[in-house]
Amino acid sequence: MMNQFPREEGLDHSLNLLREGYMYIPNRKKSFASNVFETRLLGQNAICMSGEKAAEIFYDEEKFMRNGVAPKRLQKTLFGEEGVQTLDDAAHRHRKSMFMALMTKSRLEALQDITEKQWRLATRKWEQMEQIVLYDEAKEIMCRIACVWAGVPVEEGEIKELAEQLAAMFESPTALGPQHWKGRRARKQVEKWVEGLVDQVREGHLNPAEGTALHEISLHKDLEGEYLEGRVAAVEVINILRPIVAIAIYINFTALAIHHYPEQKEKLETADAKYFQMFVQEVRRFYPFFPMAAAKVRKDFSWEGYLFKEGTLTLLDLYGTNHDTELWDNPDIFNPYRFSGWDKSPFDFIPQGGGDYMMGHRCAGEFVTIEIMEVSLNFLVNNIMYQLPEQDLSYSLVTMPSIPKSGVIMRDIRVK
Ligand code: HEM
Repeated sequence: MMNQFPREEGLDHSLNLLREGYMYIPNRKKSFASNVFETRLLGQNAICMSGEKAAEIFYDEEKFMRNGVAPKRLQKTLFGEEGVQTLDDAAHRHRKSMFMALMTKSRLEALQDITEKQWRLATRKWEQMEQIVLYDEAKEIMCRIACVWAGVPVEEGEIKELAEQLAAMFESPTALGPQHWKGRRARKQVEKWVEGLVDQVREGHLNPAEGTALHEISLHKDLEGEYLEGRVAAVEVINILRPIVAIAIYINFTALAIHHYPEQKEKLETADAKYFQMFVQEVRRFYPFFPMAAAKVRKDFSWEGYLFKEGTLTLLDLYGTNHDTELWDNPDIFNPYRFSGWDKSPFDFIPQGGGDYMMGHRCAGEFVTIEIMEVSLNFLVNNIMYQLPEQDLSYSLVTMPSIPKSGVIMRDIRVK
């Protein structure tokens, strides 16, 4: 005898998901008193799961797969079509190894230097300005970092527009109307431009340094020994550029944490590298980013007495797992010290997905994110002084992705 899933009755709850955002799964997890429940989303049956044990099975390749899961509106904006996110098995592992080969120690050291330089240049400019909106500035800084690190040539005059286009891809997926269409248009335009760069690399007219994303992805061969289709190679180069620009969101939340927890700022002024790391981990745990990850059941299996039927859409609660009271003491308190004794489970702290980088779909850019955040944190705390004027610093747990309302306005910026 199988258990019945706690079930949310009704024809479809996609609108509730949009209305409740990051709290959609946590709210039902609480009311059903269950880490797993069944509902209907996007016109189909769906299972929602939360917590460490749920993450462990979600990242078991024999149980779940990704092909055909992402809805079109996400593919047309956030992900692109036929990228690594949509692959399974040997094809996925082969493509993923292309990404992970970009994340070597020396390439991460290069990233640190690039990030420091771009922050220095930006903060010098800010000294001449009355005030800045950190979110807008950070998107541009991140775009410069992304292009230099990935070997993508961009004219200085084009950076602002490119940053906006890459940001539109992650700002638009759940938006309706013009903002959504902006994201689709941006993806089309940037894909076409990057595809042109890939062609130039293959023809020998453009020579990005070895080890950069543009070089490695352009010349990557699939399991049949063929280059990726130009359009797909462009999707994968953008899978490096776009999420680096998205780190601007974490930089906003970093500034928010420094502001809301002044005792942390004092501590950071004399802290060692270990504490910086713990602070960055806590920013990634505490603040909302990706609410959930999606997969579908590969073939029937049972887990904890529940039958998971082949083909069922399954969502893993990333935000809720990072705030799970079974896993974290007082999860709604910002406390970097919690990471001093953390046992590094691949399934309890999952802002960028869980499991194994090479074998599964865990974010390929987690080290890149941490590196850039640590350098940026140091800049905000130790390299500049600034004031935050009165503004709306609240952020939503409904709008996805969540960004502080004012974008964090800073004024009277001085380099220390
Ligand atoms: C801005 C902060 C970031 C967040 C919150 C984030 C989050 C995520 C999440 C939740 C996933 C999906 C996990 C899953 O499907 O199970 C993912 C996948 C991925 N991320 Fe990130 N990410 C970030 C930054 C980056 C960066 C900087 C890069 C590249 C430099 C990157 C590249 C990727 C790639 C290529 C995948 C697909 C992996 C696969 O399907 O195997 N991400 N990320």
